Parts: sequence; structure tokens; C-alpha cells
Amino acid sequence: MKQQLESIRQAAMAALENAATPADLEELRVKLLGKKGELTAVLKQMGKLSAEERPVMGQLANNVRAAIEEKLEQRKTAVHAAVLEAKLAAESIDVTIPGDEIEIGHQHPMNQVLQQIKDIFVGLGYQVVEGPEVELADYNFTRLNIEEGHPSRDRSDTFYFTDDDSVLLRTQTSPMQIRVMENAKPPICILAPGRVFRKDEADATHSPMFHQIEGLVVDENITMGDLKGALISCMRKIYGEDAVMRFRPHHFPFTEPSCEMDMQCHKCHGTGEIDGAVCSTCHGEGWIELLGAGMVHPAVLENCGIDSTKYSGFAFGMGLERMAMGRLKITDLRLIFDNDVRFLNQF
Ligand code: PHE
Repeated sequence: MKQQLESIRQAAMAALENAATPADLEELRVKLLGKKGELTAVLKQMGKLSAEERPVMGQLANNVRAAIEEKLEQRKTAVHAAVLEAKLAAESIDVTIPGDEIEIGHQHPMNQVLQQIKDIFVGLGYQVVEGPEVELADYNFTRLNIEEGHPSRDRSDTFYFTDDDSVLLRTQTSPMQIRVMENAKPPICILAPGRVFRKDEADATHSPMFHQIEGLVVDENITMGDLKGALISCMRKIYGEDAVMRFRPHHFPFTEPSCEMDMQCHKCHGTGEIDGAVCSTCHGEGWIELLGAGMVHPAVLENCGIDSTKYSGFAFGMGLERMAMGRLKITDLRLIFDNDVRFLNQF
């Protein structure tokens, strides 16, 4: 039995020394010290020994157990440290490697200009409202005093959804005038930005989808002077205090009188030419058209149940792309919609 115990001790020491993982060690612990382990099996034979041998063997068995336990603990600590060491080496981080730069996006240039215009008019007391892009012909044309047969109603200009031409993609933001006036009593002071759609071939200055910003003010004693004041102060904030503007008479069915507002070309300063050649920005005009405007036609007020003998109003509609092109000095409209980051990153 003595020999048995000695060989258990020797084999155990060697096996423990070679154990490389916590699992190996646990397996050995069960094999050596467990209830069904080798040491227990030997101790079960103690009964066969004589009274003199028993305490001696008992003593020896305890020594062997103690030695194994001690070695087990020692190996546990060592293996644990080795495992940790390996893990740390595998997961090590080189804090001196330069980090990846995270690129943060920014607003699309169109949104930048839209936001600037909104801020200006909100500062003047306007409320920003939005309405549907799929619109009734009744709102887009009829109640705006645009008669049947008017060229802008033509199927070659307007996207219709129905055979009777009653539902369409709005061709302007002016139907928002009707939507606001039929639901609110004066004083009314709103700004309505949004997308509009016309059957135009895309080129440097045309796109079948573009953006307009509609303005509408209705109250007692509103005059053309109020209209000019609002528009001039807006344009000076956008294009600078020294921007030169002019109002030209024009015609819109839903305003009377009507006008268009032009800004003097920022490239050729109104001369229409640069170094003897036609200015490419204004095509030699010297002026850039910015918007249409006018005093709300009395018939339009009445169409919305507003007493045109008591109230008057002005309205304007500006093209956002045109404003952005002037403001950001973009020469081709298509660049705005291509979303090429090389273009967008310039703003
Ligand atoms: N809706 C007109 C257009 O698209 C612009 C406009 C708006 C004119 C409001 C007068 C008043 O050209």
C-alpha cells in the first residue's frame, strides 16, 4: 500500500505539472482526490491493515493528499496567470496607432438656404406650414383664378393622375394659399416651402421637380409697399446689404397687380458681359429673376370666404434652387440633385 501511495504521489505530481488549462486541472482533481478517485480507492483498503500499520498508512495517505492539494493550488495559480497573460497578449491595444477619422455629415446646400430663408421670415412673424404634393386641380388652378384652357393646365406641362385631370402633382406652392385661407381668418402670415412638379426636360436651369417657397400675408390695409418691404429685407439678408433689386410688372391670374423681382447679376454687376463676352450667369440679361409676387386677387380671397372689401393681401413664390444657385454660386441645377459627395462637400 505504501508503494501504491508513493506511485500515486509521483504520477500525480507529473500529471499536475503537465496540466496546461483550468479544465485539465479540474479533471485531475476529480481523478486524484474525488470520491471515486485513486486516493479514496486506496484508503478504502485500510480496513485490511493491522492496527499498527493503520496509523502509519493513514499518516502517509494524508501526506500524499496534502502534497497533491498543495501542488494543485500552485498549478491553479500558475495556469490562471498563464491564461490571463495569453488573453492580454491577444487583446492588446496599441494606443499609439492614429485613430480613424469619423466624417460627420452636414446639411444639403438646398437645406442650408431653405433654413436661412425660413429663419428670416420666422423673424418677421411668419408661420411655416406644409401641404400635399398630390393636389386637386381645384386648388392648384381653379380657385387660384386660373381658367379652364389656361396653358399651364396643359397635359404637356402638368403631371395628372386621373383621366378627368382633377388630381395632379402640384405645379406650384400657390395652392397652399387656398388651403390656408379656407381654414383661417385674417390676420394670416404664412410661409409654405415644398416640392413642385412640371413636365420639363432636365438641363442646367430646369428640372421636372424643384422647390418653391410660397409666402402669404392677409390682413386689413395690406399694401404693395408691405410686399416690397418684406422681399427687399429678405434679399438683403441673403445676398448682402448692397444687393441691387428691381420689381418688374408681370401677370399672374391669382394676383393683381402682379410683378416679378430680379436681382442684379452678381457676376457682371448688371452689364451683361464679362471681358467682352456674354455673361454666363445671367445670359447677358444683367438681371436674375428671383420670384413672382403680387397682391392677392380679390376673386381668390372671395373663393376662400374672405371679404375682399375689408381685407387685402400679398403673396410671393420663389424658386429655392434659383435662390441657392445665386447664393452658393452654382451654375448647373442638376448638381443639386445628383448628390455627388465631391460636390456636396464644398458646402
Ligand atoms: N406660383 C407662381 C409661379 O409658380 C409664383 C407666384 C406666387 C406669383 C405667388 C405670385 C404670387 O410662378
